[in-house]
This record gives sequence, structure tokens and C-alpha cells, in this order.
Amino acid sequence: MSAVAPGEFRAAAKRRLPRFLFDYLDGGAFAESTLARNVADLERIALRQRVLRDVSDVDLSARFLGQSLALPVALGPVGIAGMYRRRGEVQAARAAHAAGIPFSLSTVSLCPLREVTAGAPSGRTWFQLYVIRDRGFMRELLGAAKDSGASTLLFTVDMAVPGSRYRDRRSGLAGRGAGMRRLLQAASHPGWAWDVGLNGRPHLLGNLAPVLGEASGLGDYMGWLGANFDPSVQWRDLDWIREIWDGPLVIKGVLDPADARDAAAFGADGIVVSNHGGRQLDGALSSAAALPAIAEAVGDRLTVLADSGVRSGLDVVRMLALGAKGVLLGRLWVYALAAEGERGVARMLSMIAEEMRVAMALTGVRTVGEIDSRLLA
Ligand code: GLV
Repeated sequence: MSAVAPGEFRAAAKRRLPRFLFDYLDGGAFAESTLARNVADLERIALRQRVLRDVSDVDLSARFLGQSLALPVALGPVGIAGMYRRRGEVQAARAAHAAGIPFSLSTVSLCPLREVTAGAPSGRTWFQLYVIRDRGFMRELLGAAKDSGASTLLFTVDMAVPGSRYRDRRSGLAGRGAGMRRLLQAASHPGWAWDVGLNGRPHLLGNLAPVLGEASGLGDYMGWLGANFDPSVQWRDLDWIREIWDGPLVIKGVLDPADARDAAAFGADGIVVSNHGGRQLDGALSSAAALPAIAEAVGDRLTVLADSGVRSGLDVVRMLALGAKGVLLGRLWVYALAAEGERGVARMLSMIAEEMRVAMALTGVRTVGEIDSRLLA
């Protein structure tokens, strides 16, 4: 059955994908308690039902980081999304741009940034930065991001080392010598094997291939992340990043008010309150629990965005009521992409918009700007 709610693409994605890809997307770190907490804590947020307030016109548009958006939502960065559909990042970027919202391209995407900006030109492509050990190349990559018209830089800071993701070790995305297991999984998913396995090449990390060549392949992807990410990165690295990148800079992966204050002090324009979708420190607070104190601490100085645990348009409204100005969707768009390609992402986004519209009407607000803690029961 075709999905009628944003969370329902997951089942079709599970059917269509080889297990190593489904588990990478769906899974979290360690016992996956933070992954579960993200969803449960948001679900527990009760909103005030308000009545008789003329909600015949509900306006979902928003403006932050210098851009006008149709919704206070962006597609967040997800690594190797191009493995979920043929040249998947371009397909998702097209759907995002048609919906009037930004698409964020991961450093570890399959499609390089220029393929995405050429395939979905919009001026609303955000580029997510991971710092790998080769700083010279990092400078080049940032320069290239600027030249290819990325509008915002999302600097992800919660992955000094990858979290302990046991599903990846079981299903074959982590660990050497899992190639045969992945091949067998692919062979039992012929739709995927034809679309991506055969016709979605090259299977390289497109942004990093210029320096790493074949070594940027997916042989031991999780091992590769652990070996190549630079764990020595610190706040003062924002200085060299700022020298090259003069556009909006958003620090992604802040869960503590003290770090949020540092982000402001070091000149960031925004932050994403995030625990990386429960994929990093298991046992960390959920984003919904961490958000109010952070918004209180820096909301007047920084654009506070949030992700982790959002599974519906109602959840978007909940995050805004907790203090976010906008929300990043991660797993939701990749499930939809895997299930139905570009059309799936477009359908998922229109469901999110519709759910937001209903939630706003029934809480008695007409504009996104009116959503704040007064909506909380
Ligand atoms: C990469 O960002 C990951 O969460 O695997």
C-alpha cells in the first residue's frame, strides 16, 4: 500500500533496500536509546487546542538565514543518500527545490556538489561539512562549495569519532570483508540492484573522490569515516573556515547551552540542536528535551534549528513550540527517496505541509511566527 503519512515510506524502503543500507539509515548507536527517546519525547509534547480563532488562512512560509522558504523545514544532510536511489541526492534536491525548501548535501554524498547544483539549480542548496585530516583539501572543498553556489554551510561537530553502530557491523556496512554479504543482499533486491547497483554508478564519495580516488569507495564505509575524520577539530578551527566561507555558517550537533553560547561567541550564524538522529552518543538527551534551554540561552543571537526525532508535520510544529526557528528532516526523506524516488520525497513534503497546516489551525495560529511556547500545554 502506498504511504499516506510521512512515516509510512519506511516500510516500502525496508522492502526495497539491501539490509546494509536499510540498517544504516534506520539504526542508531549502541542500544539505540537516544534514537527511541528522540521520537518518544517529541510525541509526549502536548499542545494546547484552541478554538474559534479564524484559521481560514494558514501561512506556512518562513524566513531564516537570509532565505525565504515555503516551510520552516529543510532536508538535512544524510551520508551516502545516493545509494538509496539512482543519483539520489539530485532527485531529493529537485523535490526540495520544487517544494521551496533547502536541500543539504552531505560531505559524504555520492553525488558531488556540482552535480546537485547543476541538476537542481535553486540557490537553496546547503553544504554540510565534515573535516577530514587533509586540511589543504578541506580548503579547496570549501572554496568549491562557495563557487558552486551553496548558500549555507552546516558544520557538523558531533562526530569527532563515529558512534558505536552495531547494526552496521551485523549487516555489512562496517568491517572489512563484508563485500560478499552486501552482494548477496543486493542480489535479493533486484529493483534496487538494477536502479542503483548497476545504473547508479559511480559508487564513490563524490566530493572526496578528487583527493581520495578509489579509496573513497564504500568498501568499509564506517571504518573509512573513523580513519579519515579529524578528531582534533576545535572551536578555533572556525577561524580558517570563516576565512574561506563568508556566507551563513550553522553549527550542527549542539546539545548543550554552554556549546550554544560558544557557537555564538565564535561567530556562527546558527546552530542545529541535534544528537545526529541518535547515531552518536547513546544516552544523550533527546533534541526535544535539550532545545528549550538552548533556545532560551542563544535564541536572540542565533538562528536555532533542530532535528532528531521528527516524524511528522505535527512534530515540526512541536519543535517550533519548543523554541526552534526551523527543522531539518533526515531519515524521513531518505525513506521516501528509497521507496519512490523524487516523487516520494515530493509526496512526503506535501504531507508534512498538510500536517503542519492542520496542527496550526487546531492550535489557533495562522503564521509560523506565532508558534512559540504559548502553544505548549
Ligand atoms: C554520518 O553522518 C552518519 O551519521 O552516518
